[in-house]
Amino acid sequence: MLDRQKRPVDYLRISVTDRCNLRCIYCMPPEGVEYKPHAEILRYEEIIRVVAAGAALGIKRVRLTGGEPLVRKGLPALIGSLAAIEGIEDISLTTNGTLLGPLAAELKEAGLGRVNISLDTLDPRKFRLVTRGGELERVWDGIEQALKLGLNPVKINVVVIKGLNDGELADFARLTREAPLHVRFIELMPLGDDREWANSHRLSLPEQRRAISHLGPLEPVQIPGGGPAQYYRLPGGKGSIGFISALSEHFCARCNRLRLTADGKVRPCLASDQELDLKCVLRAGGDTEAIREILVQAVNAKPVGHRLEVQAQDETGGKRYRYMCQIGG
Ligand code: 5AD
Ligand code: SF4
Repeated sequence: MLDRQKRPVDYLRISVTDRCNLRCIYCMPPEGVEYKPHAEILRYEEIIRVVAAGAALGIKRVRLTGGEPLVRKGLPALIGSLAAIEGIEDISLTTNGTLLGPLAAELKEAGLGRVNISLDTLDPRKFRLVTRGGELERVWDGIEQALKLGLNPVKINVVVIKGLNDGELADFARLTREAPLHVRFIELMPLGDDREWANSHRLSLPEQRRAISHLGPLEPVQIPGGGPAQYYRLPGGKGSIGFISALSEHFCARCNRLRLTADGKVRPCLASDQELDLKCVLRAGGDTEAIREILVQAVNAKPVGHRLEVQAQDETGGKRYRYMCQIGG
C-alpha cells in the first residue's frame, strides 16, 4: 500500500494486550492504568483475520507489542498462525524482557525471527526506579537466551532520560563491541500526561552522540528491519548503535507502518489520537473486504508528520487519550 505521501506501508505493529508487569515512569502514571476488560481485547482469531487481510494488501512484516506482550497466554500459538499467512515474511516482538528467558525457545520455534528488548539502565537500582519495581537480572536472562537461540537481530531499546541514564550511554554502546547486540538510543517523546517532564528530561540527538564520541569513530551501517533509526558501528564492533529521534530529526518521511491497538483500533500515527474502529467491523460480522477497507482508510489517513513539538498540553485536555502502554510504542 502507498499512502498519500507515496510512502510504502508494509508493516503492522499489533498490541496484543494493554497489560504490563512493569510500570515505567514515562509510559504509565504511578497508579497504573485501568486495563480494558477482556471482552474488549481482540481475540487471537480476530488478529489473525486482520493480518491475513493486511497481507493481501501488502503487509509483509508484523511486530507484536503490548503493554507487555508476553503477559498474554498462548503467544507462541499466535506467532505460529501469523507465520503461516502467505505474504508475512517477518515476525518480531517488542518486550520488556522480564518474561522472555523461559519463553524464548518456544517463541523462536513458533516462527519469531527477532526481538527488541526495552532496557533503559544497566544499574539494578535505577532499573527498579524507572520500571517502578522491575528486576534487571530477569531482563539479562532474556537477552542472553535471545542471543543464544540466534534470534537476529537482538535490539536493545534505551529511552534516554536526563539524570537517570544519560551517564550510561557509553556503557550501553560498549556492549555492541563484544556481542551482536543492536543498541538503540530513543529520544524521550512527550506522550504521557506530563509533557513538561518529558521535554525537560530529553537529551537531544547531538548530545547523545557527544556522550559516546570518545569511544571512536562511528561507521554508518544498515541493519535488517532498520526502521526509523540510523545505525552505526564502533571500530571492530559485532553489533551496532542506533539513534531514534522523533524530535531532533523527523523520521516521519520514512514512516512505513500502521498500528493495531489491543482493543481493535487502527492508528495511522503513533503521535496522533486518530483511530479507526476495526473491532466493531470484526464483531459485526465484517468480511475480509470490510477489514481491508478500514486498513486502506487508515493508510490514507496517515498524516504527513507528527506535531509533537507544537502540540499543546491542552490539545489533549491535559490528559492523553492513551498512554504508551496502551499503544505499544
Ligand atoms: N518516549 C520514547 N520512547 C518510549 N517508549 C515508551 N514510551 C516512550 C516515550 N515516551 C519506548 C519503550 C519501548 C518502545 C516500544 O517505546 O521503552 O522500548
Ligand atoms: Fe511496560 Fe514497556 Fe510501558 Fe515499561 S515501557 S511500563 S515495560 S509497556
